[in-house]
Amino acid sequence: MTNINKWESNIIFILAMIGSAVGLGNIWRYPYVLYSNGGGAFYIPYLVAIFALAIPFIILEYGVGYNYQSSFTKAIIKLKPKFEFYGWILPVVVFIMTIYYSTIIGWDGIYLFLSFFKGWGADPNTFLNVNLLQTTHSLSGVFNFIPFIAIFIIIGWFIIWFISHKNLDEGLGKVCKIFVPLLFVIMIFIVIFSLTLPGANIGLAELFNPDWSLLWHFDIWMAAFGQIFFSLSLGMGAGFTYASYTNDDIDLISSGLYVVIANSAFENFTALGVFSILGYMSLQSGTPVSEIVSQGTTLIFVAYPQVFNILGSIGLILGPLFFFTVYVAGITSMLSSFEVLSISLQNKFALSRRKATLILCLIGCLASMVYATSAGEYILRISDLFVNNIVIIFSVFVECVLFAWVFKAERLISFFNSRSKTFKIGKWWLTEVKYIIPLLLIVIWFGGLYELITMKTTESAIVLIVLALILVIFSLIFTLLPEKSKDWFKTEERVK
Ligand code: PHE
Repeated sequence: MTNINKWESNIIFILAMIGSAVGLGNIWRYPYVLYSNGGGAFYIPYLVAIFALAIPFIILEYGVGYNYQSSFTKAIIKLKPKFEFYGWILPVVVFIMTIYYSTIIGWDGIYLFLSFFKGWGADPNTFLNVNLLQTTHSLSGVFNFIPFIAIFIIIGWFIIWFISHKNLDEGLGKVCKIFVPLLFVIMIFIVIFSLTLPGANIGLAELFNPDWSLLWHFDIWMAAFGQIFFSLSLGMGAGFTYASYTNDDIDLISSGLYVVIANSAFENFTALGVFSILGYMSLQSGTPVSEIVSQGTTLIFVAYPQVFNILGSIGLILGPLFFFTVYVAGITSMLSSFEVLSISLQNKFALSRRKATLILCLIGCLASMVYATSAGEYILRISDLFVNNIVIIFSVFVECVLFAWVFKAERLISFFNSRSKTFKIGKWWLTEVKYIIPLLLIVIWFGGLYELITMKTTESAIVLIVLALILVIFSLIFTLLPEKSKDWFKTEERVK
């Protein structure tokens, strides 16, 4: 079955890729990463990560996806039939990520709902941990099911099903065309408003105050590379899949460049807004910014509600707008990570888009119910570590080696250059994808592994083992099940 899915236009591809990139990683994660890793000094590793890793890699991923016009798994088989198992590992691990990602979107949905009447009350911290998540910080709460959270997770999955089961133009394409620009418009509005608040400068001074000494620490480099990966959806098959839907005349070099620029602009702009608001809060409450700022969950679900409380009736407008933006950003990212496994299954088992979407949404939704328990937040943190620190980085390493060496990246150069309206690639690009990036990835991988080993507890080890088993078992099942599609081993190449 050849892939009949195609984007309506090249712009839609770029918008969809920006939708994939701009997500929770930009709003929920980036401001904190920037702040806690040297402030202004963080820009050095951040820019190195963009130029040495992101731009060359994104071009490679798009190029190979474009060439095969098929799912990641199918392309791997064409490249090396023996590697089918690996071809499933990446889609399955990305699906595991999609499942916990849906949970954070669910939490955000709850806050979107509450923001209309500030339903989090006067003490958002207690509300989040005690009333809502009922966090036990261990596995012990796994049997305490929280229906309220479950409902919001289900709503997220319903939306994903609703958009994904339609044909590309009517579903994904249409949503990205409307919502991705909207995302930017609302964020610009929120940030400009935040910048005018009294005390904004306190927050910004705190954010950018560079701590140059940190540049000598390995951690901040790891943080920059990790952030760029997650935030740009690099190497996770999302760019690969979306690029496989492009038309023949696409300029992939420039598209990649636009996606990287838009993603970085969005996250840095968001950070300005976040820290202006924290500065305002610091001025109002007399608490230093360093005490207010905290990681992801607490930042957007505790600090933000506190600010909306102080802002009075303006908070009733700004609150819903903010949580809506996070919601849309989350959904457009989840759509792309969902697509990766979905299209692989469609390819191998000759499933229609409708059928594959329905089955996967049901499975994903059911699996995410484990996060709708008191142990949810705890398991989520470990799942995130498992996915981002161990599996993804390693499988991206394999992907890079396969694409650069086995596929032979040089095959793409003249194709890329013949269409590029911005810059051309050559020797430096090949050196990047063949040597520098694989090397960098291996270093990051060991760093992440070290972090994981040092946090060992028996409970987290149990979660890690269960996740690893799920990953291996499902990848094995998909590998061993006989194919239903006659074209499973027939993949045409576009680049001659
Ligand atoms: N880039 C998304 C974010 O910043 C996360 C993501 C990763 C989405 C991989 C799809 C695939 O939130």
